[in-house]
Amino acid sequence: MSKKKLVFSGVQPTGNLHLGNYLGALKNFVSLQKQVECIYCVVDLHAITIFQDPNQLQNNVLETTASFLATGLNPNKSIIFNQSSVSGHAELAWILNCVSRIGWLNRMTQFKDKAGSDKEKASVGLYIYPNLMAADILLYKATHVPVGADQKQHLELSRDIAQKFNNDFNCKEFFPLPEPLIPKNISRVMSLRDGTKKMSKSEESDYSRINLKDTADEIIKKIKKAKSDSNTIPGDINALESKPEALNLLTIYSEITKSSLEKTISEMEGKEYSFLKTKLAEALINEITPVGKEIEKLLKDKSHLISILKKGTEKANIIAEENLKNIREKIGLI
Ligand code: TYM
Repeated sequence: MSKKKLVFSGVQPTGNLHLGNYLGALKNFVSLQKQVECIYCVVDLHAITIFQDPNQLQNNVLETTASFLATGLNPNKSIIFNQSSVSGHAELAWILNCVSRIGWLNRMTQFKDKAGSDKEKASVGLYIYPNLMAADILLYKATHVPVGADQKQHLELSRDIAQKFNNDFNCKEFFPLPEPLIPKNISRVMSLRDGTKKMSKSEESDYSRINLKDTADEIIKKIKKAKSDSNTIPGDINALESKPEALNLLTIYSEITKSSLEKTISEMEGKEYSFLKTKLAEALINEITPVGKEIEKLLKDKSHLISILKKGTEKANIIAEENLKNIREKIGLI
């Protein structure tokens, strides 16, 4: 097996990216591009597993590309492209549909959450979505995958699929077993309204999340309204276990200010949550609003964004086609 590290990750173009995407994934993408070869994909084929308005989808693909660039991804260092433009993703997904097991997919909690109570009405695409995700990663024989904790189960499935392929076709170590890279301190940014749910694009209330394009005023309003606690901030981390919203605000603050959670808690001990909220809003404004402004600026030149995706597609296609040739051979396709 080649020992070379290769990073792959993807983000769905389903509208405005938020603080969860930023702290859980994008920041890690940027630091990894300084160390190893990285491929970052706007996963439009994943987005259409739930109906998307076609015009909106095009805009969202460009906006996600702009968000990649605005947070610091460099198209000269990383390969940046959109999934549907490399047809190998769909082809390998089909092959892996035949390797993956129904029992494995039935265990995927994200499908259960997204399909809701009426699973019969969910698209087949939504059900086999994790196989497409495995195809994304394995198409490039990626070794490392930076994601938030919500994607851990999908990553485990990708490893199972890789392993089964290697066993079935007697090609030990053909696919590397991809390792998740999940941020240690903040693997799951929670909703500002309900600290037991992850921050997400699909939650109805915009007050539940900080979007990368939020203005300073919006950030202040959202943090002010965020659920916290009526008592003062405790000095003991264990006392926060039953207060997930308060813990979430402290964790976000410690991450943004690059301090440990323990240090943040000891600094904040005995203070009102309004104090933390003022500090947190300030820190978020400094970190997030320049990104939002850069996204808006980049979106003014759509042809530039399209040309970046096109160049990325060319590079991705070369790796994908070479690997697909070997994959087709392994399974006996002529
Ligand atoms: P998506 O588009 O939902 O999210 C993109 C990235 O953001 C992370 N993330 C979070 N991290 C921490 N806290 C949160 N509240 C939060 N919300 C989102 C996600 O973990 C993810 O890393 N299936 C994937 C996209 C995908 C992919 C892939 C990822 C498709 N193919 C191959 C890696 C490799 C998804 O829907 O992410």
